[in-house]
Amino acid sequence: MSQAAETVDRPWLDADAQPFIKIRGMTKRFGDFTAVDNVDLDIYKGELFSLLGGSGCGKSTLLRMMAGFESPTAGTVHIDGTLMNEIPAYERPVNMMFQSYALFPHMTVAKNVAYGLVRDGLGKSEVTKRVDEMLDMVELGDFSKRKPHQLSGGQQQRVALARALVKRPKVLLLDEPLGALDKRLREQTQFELMNLQEELGVTFVVVTHDQEEAMTLSTRIAVMDQGKFMQIGTPTEIYETPDSRHVASFIGSTNIFQGFVVENKPDHVLVQSRRDDSLFYIDHGLDVQENAKVWVAIRPEKIRLSKTPPKKAGPNQLSGIVQDIGYLGRMSTYKVKLTNDKIVEITHPNQVRPKSGEHLADWEEKVYLSWEPTSAVVLTK
Ligand SMILES: Nc1ncnc2c1ncn2[C@@H]1O[C@H](COP(=O)(O)OP(=O)(O)OP(=O)(O)O)[C@@H](O)[C@H]1O
Ligand SMILES: [Mg+2]
Repeated sequence: MSQAAETVDRPWLDADAQPFIKIRGMTKRFGDFTAVDNVDLDIYKGELFSLLGGSGCGKSTLLRMMAGFESPTAGTVHIDGTLMNEIPAYERPVNMMFQSYALFPHMTVAKNVAYGLVRDGLGKSEVTKRVDEMLDMVELGDFSKRKPHQLSGGQQQRVALARALVKRPKVLLLDEPLGALDKRLREQTQFELMNLQEELGVTFVVVTHDQEEAMTLSTRIAVMDQGKFMQIGTPTEIYETPDSRHVASFIGSTNIFQGFVVENKPDHVLVQSRRDDSLFYIDHGLDVQENAKVWVAIRPEKIRLSKTPPKKAGPNQLSGIVQDIGYLGRMSTYKVKLTNDKIVEITHPNQVRPKSGEHLADWEEKVYLSWEPTSAVVLTK
């Protein structure tokens, strides 16, 4: 692929691309508590960018500063090349769906969704057409005459979502937009959001603490902790090459082994476990001294489990006793207790329908674990 083609869908790789939303040194303090701590962020036109992190890490505060509902203690936000700091929320090219979405209680569903369009002076037939389309999308076509108190929590959330989308702003800021939806509607709405983004070229910034949702939806994800960004990357980068233990264990599950570097060459690194003499061979060099303290992270689905011992001893092999087996439908998880008492989690897809009670190995059975040199990541923090 040419460089140009490669950066069309990934403008963040293009040094000349101008970010649509540009945030510099953004800080928010409440008294002596720092909710957002000096963050820089570039979001490009047409991205579906997710802010992901635990409760209280500053996601909503950052979003509210982009929208203009909270003024930063320090820092700047530009949208489409214009400095937004002094521009009030209602004049920004932005629409926000709040985490606690307030619907107008005395208005019907249709009037709630139409509100912004009517205020903008759109003609009646255009308003009706857009409201109907949007209500169909969120599967509330039959509910347009109800009032919010006659709806379930998930239905109210869909009205709020429709209300935010109907105006087709340049930037949509959505704070936990799908939190109250059931799994099926949630997945469907995720795809609708992605379609809308492709059709209308809207730039989305979505706050979520659902990692699977962030993985499915996003062009890129910022993982936040205590007001700072831990890592920004595509879903694949965040999942496959996390750069810290925090990110590795926040996204999906992972097995982390503490160790120290015993050999560091340009094409590989050898790490010895702190707990015993097991060795980890990883197929890339590292920018650290020998003997440096590091952590090796291996995802549960990247570990093979076998009842037969390996033909010869070597790195990337462990053994232990099956302590727990969980059947999750599309896969099974095995918890294996190593001789040093550490528990390692392995997942195995259920490609063929297992007969009841049939597993790769049984409770209390001795098993051997192994993985490829490409399957582990070394973390230095
Ligand atoms: N107006 C305020 N006054 C004082 N502290 C605040 C205020 N608003 C937010 N905070 C604090 O700032 C931190 C970040 O809040 P924020 O709402 O941004 O978190 P969040 O990441 O959106 O969390 P959640 O996932 O629970 O919604 C929290 O510790 C919160 O208590
Ligand atoms: Mg929040």
